Amino acid sequence: MPASPLLRPWTAADAPDLHAAFTADPSLEYQLGRRLDDARQAAEYLEASLTGLERRRSFAVDVDGVAVGNIGISAIDPRHQTAWISYWIAPSARGLSLAARGVASAAAWAFSDAGLFRLELGHRTNNPASCRVALRAGFRSEGIERGKLRYGDVRFDVATHARLASDPQPGIVPLPRQSPGSSTS
Ligand SMILES: CC(C)(COP(=O)(O)OP(=O)(O)OC[C@H]1O[C@@H](n2cnc3c(N)ncnc32)[C@H](O)[C@@H]1OP(=O)(O)O)[C@@H](O)C(=O)NCCC(=O)NCCS
Repeated sequence: MPASPLLRPWTAADAPDLHAAFTADPSLEYQLGRRLDDARQAAEYLEASLTGLERRRSFAVDVDGVAVGNIGISAIDPRHQTAWISYWIAPSARGLSLAARGVASAAAWAFSDAGLFRLELGHRTNNPASCRVALRAGFRSEGIERGKLRYGDVRFDVATHARLASDPQPGIVPLPRQSPGSSTS
């Protein structure tokens, strides 16, 4: 287990780590809907999408100062108190429960700091690792949406999950979170 994994905000200095993750697993382009072919594109994406927007929040998964993954909260709807969670972990850091612990931590932030009530996520039905992440982070199965995603020329059925603020806490330890300019919480 890495020494000190945590969630923290992305910064411009993470562009090389982001590019390295997408080089190691080119299929991550489907998580973003675009490719990151070099560090400059990674820097542009960081600036445009991962920092400072009101209707989404993205946390870097940090292991010893290296950004090895992302937990994203998007489609934040204050009226209905709902949002969508997505996640990826670089191949070198998979299998360490970082995704499950990171999603649990981001969910705790969403329910407390953001005042949300219902968090949704979905994964292709041929992605059992993502299903395990969802279940371990306390997101119950809700059903199948047929042909929802298109990756290249292929359409995929999507298994949906959701967690409510009133659901039981999952039996895992959420990653600590570090806010901008503050200590780990
Ligand atoms: C899915 C992903 C986020 C998992 O990250 P991770 O940090 O390795 O996840 P965790 O270690 O928290 O948990 C992985 C779980 O999946 C299980 N798993 C891994 N590969 C599996 C497979 N092929 N079949 C079944 N289960 C599998 C692991 O055993 C583990 O389950 P466990 O905790 O019950 O043992 C990572 O593989 C990834 O980024 N994939 C590409 C992007 C992606 O698919 N994102 C999700 C989109 S919905």
